[in-house]
This record gives sequence, C-alpha cells and structure tokens, in this order.
Amino acid sequence: MPSALRIRAASGDDAAAIGAIYDEGVRSGVATFATGAHDEAERRAWLAARPARAPVYCGELEGRVRAWSALAPYSHRSWYEGVAEYTVYVAGAARGDGVGRRMLAHLIAAAPAFGYWKLVGMILPENGPALALARNAGFRVVGTHHAHATLAGRWRDVTMVERHLDPEVAGVRKPDGLPS
Ligand SMILES: CC(C)(COP(=O)(O)OP(=O)(O)OC[C@H]1O[C@@H](n2cnc3c(N)ncnc32)[C@H](O)[C@@H]1OP(=O)(O)O)[C@@H](O)C(=O)NCCC(=O)NCCS
Repeated sequence: MPSALRIRAASGDDAAAIGAIYDEGVRSGVATFATGAHDEAERRAWLAARPARAPVYCGELEGRVRAWSALAPYSHRSWYEGVAEYTVYVAGAARGDGVGRRMLAHLIAAAPAFGYWKLVGMILPENGPALALARNAGFRVVGTHHAHATLAGRWRDVTMVERHLDPEVAGVRKPDGLPS
C-alpha cells in the first residue's frame, strides 16, 4: 500500500530538498544533461525565476519532501504554446512505491489549467525507470533523437515521449483520408 503523498506548489524554502533530489539524478548519469551540483542560493534563484506557466511541485511523505515535479514550455514558438515538457524526480530511497506515478498523474491533471494541451518528455534511452513511468502513464514513444546532446563529452541519444491531454485527440491515430 503506497504511503500518503501530499503534492503542493514548491516555495523557495524547498530549494535545498529539491536540489538534493536533483543531484541524485545528476549523479546517475541517465536522468539529465545537467552536470555539477548547485548550492541552495542558486536553486532558490531558479525557483524564483520560474514563469507562471513553469510551475514546480513538491511531493511530501510524512512531512518530508521526497519528490519534485515541474512543467515548462516546450518551445518559444506561439503555435506550440500548448506543449509542455514535464520533469519528475523522486529521492532514491522513495522510489518503486508509486510516488513518481502520482507526481506525473498530478502534472497531467494540472497542465490544462496552464493552457497546455500536450505533455512531452525527453528521456535518455538508458533511463529504464523514466521510460516505464511514461509508458505506464499513457505516454507513447515518439522516437529517439540520435546524438542529440553531449553528456560528459559523449554524444547521447534522447527518446521523446508524448501524451495529448484531450482524450478525444489522444485516441486519434491519423486524420481521416490519409493512407496508413
Ligand atoms: C523515473 C522515476 C521518477 C520513477 O519514480 P518512482 O517513484 O520510482 O516510480 P513509480 O514507483 O511510481 O513507478 C511508476 C511506474 O513505472 C514503473 N517503474 C518504475 N521504476 C521501474 C523500473 N526500475 N523498472 C521497471 N519499471 C519501473 C513502475 O512499475 C510503475 O508502473 P505502474 O504505474 O504501472 O505501477 C525515478 O526513478 C527517478 O526519480 N529517477 C531519476 C530522475 C529521472 O530520471 N526522472 C525522469 C526524467 S523526467
């Protein structure tokens, strides 16, 4: 039985907890292209600078922040304004208990209020848990970008996943009349 998870908007006071969870992901070498550690002041500044359509949330278990999640616009182009990239990080000790699933479900539920119609995720193909999280939350794999960016001096592929937030659109595979 998963423990009770309280999900709420993050504040500057969550900077240290968010940073510690993020640094675990950085050290894994498969969660993000970011490298190095950031101090609490930098993380506070990062939180304060988030635009309104780029919310950050914390997931608390028994009063302790054990996960965080975020949405961010996918592109500056106006016609993609309804597409957001999602982020979910769970502390190593809290993984495998449905926390990531609930953080992502919360983002899916929250996103339309910010004007988003689709979520995309950019995942290193070696990150099995992140791919499983996305697939099991109804995302489909769009494809894998070859040598999309470098991490520690090495070219890395990036798999994109997507989920449309309008169930009717999500069910449409191809427009009528087009050959399959
Ligand atoms: C990816 C991550 C968020 C998953 O969090 P989690 O709390 O362990 O995930 P959950 O326990 O909620 O599992 C979610 C689903 O993925 C599956 N899953 C999670 N880890 C898995 C693994 N190692 N192998 C296979 N399946 C896995 C679960 O079976 C579950 O399926 P369900 O929804 O059908 O029950 C976590 O591993 C993490 O924080 N990784 C580092 C940061 C990162 O890579 N984030 C992704 C980039 S946005």
